[in-house]
Amino acid sequence: MNTRIVQLSDIHIGSPYSFRYRPACLTNFKQAMKQVEAFDVQPKLIVLSGDLTRDGETHRFELTALKELLATYPYEFHLIPGNHDVGGRFELDRFETISEEKVVRYKSVFDDKFEVVVDDVRLIGFNSFLLGTNFSAEDEQWEWLQEKANEKGSWKKQLWFMHNLPYRESPFETKVENKEDEYGAWYAYIDLDRQHRLMKIIKDSKVDVIACGHSHYFKDRTVDGIRHVNCPATGFCVPTSKLGFVVYDINENEIVVNQHLLDVESPEVEFGVGGHIPFDKRDYSLGEKMTPAIAEEVNALLHQ
Ligand SMILES: [Fe+2]
Ligand SMILES: [Fe+2]
Repeated sequence: MNTRIVQLSDIHIGSPYSFRYRPACLTNFKQAMKQVEAFDVQPKLIVLSGDLTRDGETHRFELTALKELLATYPYEFHLIPGNHDVGGRFELDRFETISEEKVVRYKSVFDDKFEVVVDDVRLIGFNSFLLGTNFSAEDEQWEWLQEKANEKGSWKKQLWFMHNLPYRESPFETKVENKEDEYGAWYAYIDLDRQHRLMKIIKDSKVDVIACGHSHYFKDRTVDGIRHVNCPATGFCVPTSKLGFVVYDINENEIVVNQHLLDVESPEVEFGVGGHIPFDKRDYSLGEKMTPAIAEEVNALLHQ
């Protein structure tokens, strides 16, 4: 039996209520969904592997708007957060890093991990930004991952999902990224201790694919027996990438992984400034249609 799973990543759907907005991200997401809906073989479910929003780490209304949007599609979606949804790697600047408060806010809209078994396939997704925080939620998640790894089920294949990249060159590498000298690499990965712990769990429990987003480009490689798939973004490109998503066709013998590019990329222009902006540099007067509830949320942010 063939089981089809679709992974979309880095959809980055923001909001015209924000201090910045890329309407193209929403249009591109709809384009990706249109292509999925046209498949002869339909996916059993769709995984969204983080960076669901532009600024969901500060705007709860971006998360609730996404929930409403997903409810309009006839698909089962399973989500995990990215740095734009719960904050990025611990020890980033204060306004950008993950915090317990951001995780609680996210979890008031979506769960930050999932497990689902469909046909003979088990899918696990987790919040990779907890790794390295020492929050109590990190310990709880490790316990959960270990418990999942120890379980024996009827599934024949396993795919696990996280947002940032599980390894750089190899799962058990020893080179530590230096935040000062190699910021881009440091930003992309989890810390080395957590990497080794996670990769041991992945290897011991014979996970067939560890898939991620965050990179915004497609890659499919196997190193030290661990297959790692990077999903491209639907939201926006990095210099060497194209917008697209990943389709997994899974049977007892193999997992066929294909990148599907978007047939059309939206040319819509954005407003506001890119990058990660401190609160005092955010100009909310650019937001087009502030409702009373959202105005209250934004005011609370600006005066915290
Ligand atoms: Fe992203
Ligand atoms: Fe990301």
